[in-house]
Amino acid sequence: MARILGIETSCDETGIAIYDGEHGLLSHALHSQIALHNLYGGVVPELASRDHVKRIIPLINNCFAQAQIDKSTIDAIAYTAGPGLNGALLVGASIANGLGFCLDKPVIPIHHLEGHLLSPLLGQHKPQPPFIALLASGGHSQIIMVEKIGKYRLLGDTLDDAAGEAFDKTAKLLGLPYPGGSHIAALAKQGIDAYKLPRPMLHSNDLNFSFSGLKTAVSILIDKIKIKQELTLEIKHNIAKSIEEAITDVLVKKSMLAIKKIGINRLVISGGVSANLTLRDKLNKIENIEVFYPPQNLCTDNGAMIALAGHTRYLAATYNYSFVVNPRWQLSEL
Ligand code: KG4
Ligand code: ZN
Repeated sequence: MARILGIETSCDETGIAIYDGEHGLLSHALHSQIALHNLYGGVVPELASRDHVKRIIPLINNCFAQAQIDKSTIDAIAYTAGPGLNGALLVGASIANGLGFCLDKPVIPIHHLEGHLLSPLLGQHKPQPPFIALLASGGHSQIIMVEKIGKYRLLGDTLDDAAGEAFDKTAKLLGLPYPGGSHIAALAKQGIDAYKLPRPMLHSNDLNFSFSGLKTAVSILIDKIKIKQELTLEIKHNIAKSIEEAITDVLVKKSMLAIKKIGINRLVISGGVSANLTLRDKLNKIENIEVFYPPQNLCTDNGAMIALAGHTRYLAATYNYSFVVNPRWQLSEL
């Protein structure tokens, strides 16, 4: 057992957490930069880096205060080394290494997607490998075979936009704030699937995704409606529901295809889109499979998943000290 400080700064969230092998998550703190970037309709990398610099030390202090432990009691520091925004990653890497040097503790570089993949282990219902994982976030839509922790095989990927990106881009067309996934989900609650949007690559019989056509379909649909009438709230509810149904149908169908092809019926869903309750409902209704999710508040980026991945690597001694960041790090390179 060990106690690990986790640092996540790959994009627009500064996430810090302390995970203890015996007692679980001792504390976690998060600062989201959503309000900062909202003005620009997406993440501005330089602003992201600067904000991480401002937030990271107070958040670390806050985590130790919450956990009521001294910094010297941790065994190691884990930080997100990639993939992500170069400048943002460098902030986390620098603080992790500086702190590691001062406290004389090992520093463990973590792959951001491994953090997401292992995040269901932070919940009550913990998956045991081997399992199939659907990783659906703002930057990735991947189906991964997890043979054991640390051994990952990519089975399917997106050919263009990621699932979260599809939520974000279609939300923008509806005039919703960034990131749009949770806003679409909120509107969809009162809507019906009235527009039957395309389900891209639903019948391609492979495990790849393509979501960019959905954005075009929604754009054409909105233009057509606007010729005849205003976009009323009711129409927006129905468009949001149609978007949610189209994206979640594809995610469910591809996950089921992976289960059939590989012959393993344990499925892990992670990444920001795993917070979507319609997706969870659809998967929970399928018989003869076991589905695992991260706790609802740990689906999007956070420090807890990095601390947990660090804990796993620390115990297995499967990490190499490095003060590098890799903005385009592939999970299969682990
Ligand atoms: O994992 P994450 O925090 O960041 C990346 O690593 O990309 O995922 C963020 C993505 C965004 O695209 C956001 O719109 C989406 O997760 N998201 C959702 C929901 N909550 C967040 N998508 C659908 N339904 C939600 N409830
Ligand atoms: Zn993420």
